[in-house]
Amino acid sequence: MSTIIDGKAIAAKLRAEIATEVKILKEKGIIPGLATVLVGEDPASEVYVRMKGNACQELGMHSVKHTLPATTTEAELLALVARLNSDPTIHGILVQLPLPKQINSDTILEAISPVKDVDGFHPYNVGRLMVGKPTFQPCTPYGVMVMLREAGVDLAGKEVVVVGRSNIVGKPVALMCLQQHATVTICHSKTRDLPAKVKGADVVIAAVGVPEMIKGEWIKEGAVVIDVGVNRIGEKKLVGDVEFAAASQRASAITPVPGGVGPMTITMLLYNTLEAAKKAGTGDR
Ligand code: GUN
Repeated sequence: MSTIIDGKAIAAKLRAEIATEVKILKEKGIIPGLATVLVGEDPASEVYVRMKGNACQELGMHSVKHTLPATTTEAELLALVARLNSDPTIHGILVQLPLPKQINSDTILEAISPVKDVDGFHPYNVGRLMVGKPTFQPCTPYGVMVMLREAGVDLAGKEVVVVGRSNIVGKPVALMCLQQHATVTICHSKTRDLPAKVKGADVVIAAVGVPEMIKGEWIKEGAVVIDVGVNRIGEKKLVGDVEFAAASQRASAITPVPGGVGPMTITMLLYNTLEAAKKAGTGDR
């Protein structure tokens, strides 16, 4: 049986540390501020944005929510981003994706000031991640890395297999593992013999968004499994991208769904917002 890597517990510990730092900053007259922007009425996005705002307030941060209609034009959204870029009470800007189709996401992400890009999606910050320079690290992959650290996994020399090549998770998490000296393979829908690739992995990071696609029998005895997938089955049940019950018979450590990577994502957003506020406070940006 494997150890469960408890994302809820790790997130709670980190949030307590962030809350302490927020208090210290407040004594210096700085209140970390996050602006969230939601365009349209996608129910899942509404839930995520609400959770992000609530989490900020719980930790004593300032949060402002902008909700715009689905008919918003690119120019209108650009105007809001420009206002937030120059608002000194806002240290982090998060425009929830996906955006309605009349708006080009790249144009919007590139308009966000890189010093307020707490999502880590601006090409400037993506480039810095690529060359291994300090930057805002995108929240979900950052959360994965913190979980691996907290589970005591040393990645140097390990075979890491990332399943999924999205800009939000797969690609950045692969770069972060490489930065920690792992040998990294990125698998995707065109990969030949995925089971063989997974069977060779010391660490499997699954981020495909297909329910239980990674079979338990593919997991090498003693491997570490990080499941980024959150897939809704019917009304109530959530499952990951990995067959949890079978995989946990073989893995040395595994993240559950829910209660694994999920709680880490928002926590890393709060962490990035705190860092942005600290940098603004020292003029270091
Ligand atoms: N949509 C899904 N995940 C994310 C995320 O991490 N950030 C933003 N802005 N939108 C998302």
